[in-house]
Amino acid sequence: MKHPSRPVTRREFVASSSAAVAGVTLVTSLTGTQAQAAEAAGPFQAMGTRVGEVFDSTAIVWTRLTATPTRNNAGVVVPKRANDEPKRGKGDSKVSVPVEQLEGACPGAPGRVRVRYGTREDLSDAQVTEVKAASADNDFICQFKLAGLKPGTVYHYASEIPGAPPQAAVRGKFETALAAGAPGNLRFCVMTCQGYADRGHPDGHFIYPSMAALQPQFTCLTGDLVYYDSGDPDAVTARLARYHWERMFSLPRLIEFNRQHSTYWLKDDHDTLSNDSGPGASMGEFTFAEGQAIFRQQAPLDADGPSYRTIRWGRDLQLWFTDGRDFRSKNKMADGPDKTIWGVEQKAWFKRTVQESDATWKVLVSPTPLVGPDRKNKRDNHANEGFQHEGDEIRNWLKQHVPENFFVITGDRHWQYHSVHPETGVAEFSAGPASDQHASGSPGENPQYHKFHRVKGGFLAVTLQRDGAKSRILFEHRDVMGKVVYSWQKERAV
Ligand SMILES: [Fe+2]
Repeated sequence: MKHPSRPVTRREFVASSSAAVAGVTLVTSLTGTQAQAAEAAGPFQAMGTRVGEVFDSTAIVWTRLTATPTRNNAGVVVPKRANDEPKRGKGDSKVSVPVEQLEGACPGAPGRVRVRYGTREDLSDAQVTEVKAASADNDFICQFKLAGLKPGTVYHYASEIPGAPPQAAVRGKFETALAAGAPGNLRFCVMTCQGYADRGHPDGHFIYPSMAALQPQFTCLTGDLVYYDSGDPDAVTARLARYHWERMFSLPRLIEFNRQHSTYWLKDDHDTLSNDSGPGASMGEFTFAEGQAIFRQQAPLDADGPSYRTIRWGRDLQLWFTDGRDFRSKNKMADGPDKTIWGVEQKAWFKRTVQESDATWKVLVSPTPLVGPDRKNKRDNHANEGFQHEGDEIRNWLKQHVPENFFVITGDRHWQYHSVHPETGVAEFSAGPASDQHASGSPGENPQYHKFHRVKGGFLAVTLQRDGAKSRILFEHRDVMGKVVYSWQKERAV
């Protein structure tokens, strides 16, 4: 997909850059009242910032310009569709007011924005990006790809609107990946499946302050980050789909977490379109193709890069992020060698890059399970009978090529588990849903698979530690408050 933002012309760039430089001088000479007036006029950044696709020398900073400084907290709440009611059809979202008047809406506003970034917290060494234009064409979203960064380094940044007072900027930080050869200890978190109505606290899910307390180097947001088909309302138009992102990611706890931590964003069925969805599907006027484009716009992602990617984090860790939606066969297709979730190219890329990697530990973060076990009536993922052929192919390949140092972490399932595939020994950790209220659906504990099984919310924390000539990887299931409920570790000589 092409990035929707219009390139700024040289003339506009020169004009806005000089205005920006002048703006800094101007702001320092504004009286308190004038500064307040400039800030009151907006635009604002009511959804904060996000930093994604952080590699050892690049990162993407995301922001969205808004008409108001905070979300619409006093707006209309759409009542949830009853479970036995059908999903809304075209033009029937049960929304009787303009989307801007809904609870949690953050109407966008046109304007200009740039990012100042550097290694010092006071940004005294900062570089500044070009100024970009936010408009309705790009849902008022601007993404900045920062390059030439130093590996294994904390960067501070300010997302600022030229001419606005400095206090209107959103400040944050992120940490770049360690260079491939560098040994280093690190921790990362994995979360998935966050409902809105069942988030557990008005300000957002408890897992966010709990993950922040662990000071992870990065966090994987592993799909179902909004539920378009939650019924409160169903996203039967692209505008309502965008409303789901506005409402969720303007929650104070999510803003606070996302501005301070690097994140990798993966999509699944509910944040692309609807339950178990794939190419060609639609919900009312809203199509799967629109859902793919909106995810790429709402998440800090490369505009043109593949939806699957791998990242090296130092000597000891390489991660794979797969896409389970873009290339999949229809769920109802008869199983066999041609039925796929990953598609031919992604599968070849996965096998090639896993074999090429000399990382001590190799971890696949997948939006859907590879091991399970899952419910018998499901036919959406590699743990289901409907995709058993490809599931067996991948699991057997892993057994043959990386039996010692490869792990799967999965999103999607609304219960936490550590399971080991009985025939191939492939190990899988399910992060679990983002709140206790969102937990359900397990077919039950299965002693043939499970080392751990818990139908509650939480997240997964993974810690890598060097100890002399050994590297240790530690997987911890944590509850929503951050308490360890299960841990498992393995060591390797390095
Ligand atoms: Fe989910």
